[in-house]
Amino acid sequence: MRPLFKNIRVLACLCIVFVLVAALPLSEAAQSVRPNSKGSDASKIVLPDPLIFQNGKRVHNAEAWPQRRQEILHQFENQVYGRTPAKRLPLRFTVSSVDPTALGGQAIRKQVTVHFTSKAGGPKMDILLYVPAHSPKPVPVFLALNFAGNHTVDPDPGIKLGEVWTRDPATEISGLSNELVKHVKRQAPESSRGMAANQWQVEKILARGYALATIYYGDIEPDFDGGIKYGARPLFFRTGQTEPAPDEWEALGAWAWGLSRAVDYLKIDSDVDPKKIAVMGFSRLGKAALWAAAQDQRFAVVISNESGKGGASLYRSKAGESVEHLNTAFPHWFCANFHKYTGHDSEVPVDGNLLLALIAPRPLYVASAEQDPFSDPPSEFLAGVDAGRVYELLGKLGLGTDQMPPVEHPIMKTVGYHIRAGKHDVTAYDWDQYLNFADMFLKAPQGRAGKEAGSDH
Ligand code: GCU
Repeated sequence: MRPLFKNIRVLACLCIVFVLVAALPLSEAAQSVRPNSKGSDASKIVLPDPLIFQNGKRVHNAEAWPQRRQEILHQFENQVYGRTPAKRLPLRFTVSSVDPTALGGQAIRKQVTVHFTSKAGGPKMDILLYVPAHSPKPVPVFLALNFAGNHTVDPDPGIKLGEVWTRDPATEISGLSNELVKHVKRQAPESSRGMAANQWQVEKILARGYALATIYYGDIEPDFDGGIKYGARPLFFRTGQTEPAPDEWEALGAWAWGLSRAVDYLKIDSDVDPKKIAVMGFSRLGKAALWAAAQDQRFAVVISNESGKGGASLYRSKAGESVEHLNTAFPHWFCANFHKYTGHDSEVPVDGNLLLALIAPRPLYVASAEQDPFSDPPSEFLAGVDAGRVYELLGKLGLGTDQMPPVEHPIMKTVGYHIRAGKHDVTAYDWDQYLNFADMFLKAPQGRAGKEAGSDH
């Protein structure tokens, strides 16, 4: 453990501003339990050090990093997200539709079902894949889970209207957070088509020469306490097992696993380059994206869009969401071992800086929003700064500053960061930065990225 940063006065002030704004109502879940609100002083944050082994020895060089990396990964497995089973399921992919003239000829649209079991009616997930029609193949691809169904990412009438989990109106009791009311699985209504299009910017992504693959996260496991029995996890139960052990995966682990299964499919689709997969996730799906990329090094670029606590930001910061809130509003997200840290945020043996360090040396972009105090932007930034020390050890560029940049002044090194104006969301501005960042690493092997990737600066 070591004190963080010498020059943090500006950050400390920012933290206080964010804490003040944190009193505003934010999300359905934010209202049920009060987040930490005692104020934040970044100078007092003492973080677990990615470059010190648990036995106190220092990681002196790049050769020692894989061993320390393994140690950190095990801590996240045992104490935070739970272990993902090593067992491999015999996946079956069925391509249910291919339209080479989708979106007015801009895209090839494919819809692929990944069956997790050979049993009829067993759990499965649908991948919606758009490939830019006129770009030379294979193309780099963004992969991201979506919250409300594949049909919500674009008004395209060709997207299958799948089944989605919704609150059951019959059990609606005012005051309960979305996660605590009963849920039912229903055919998605036509009116929800394209509902989240602003957060996806499909045409922008395609115009820049990238494919987009997306999956409804509820296919992998629905997001409520008790949702486990409708998802993929029971397929891994040992004989007689009815629930995960305290150090076994919960829902965030399942969603991360689903992202890796999408990579299994992308590897065999000749339109996309499996070495150029950028995983992106927003909020809870940002937590899942980071955890997926920590475990699976096939993700070449990793983007956290306002992933907050349990993602990029720091449990040890007093601002934003508390461990208590995570564990109370979402008892099904983290492994049972993590629940002992309720009320003891500073005792979680790992923190956001270590999660981000597990991505190194792969390009990592962390994004925050000014009016998103619940995700604690200053600590998302600080975690990125600290993880940068591992990037530097490995010959890459960390953020290169411990001063939070002004709003909409992105930093783009091997670690990137921006804070934009506005609320908890994914916007066209965010996508512009992700595309610029991805271009550096997935489009220009001889250019800026190539230079940086090989440089010792
Ligand atoms: C809630 C939750 C956050 C999460 C967010 C989201 O606000 O407390 O941890 O990131 O939902 O997924 O939108």
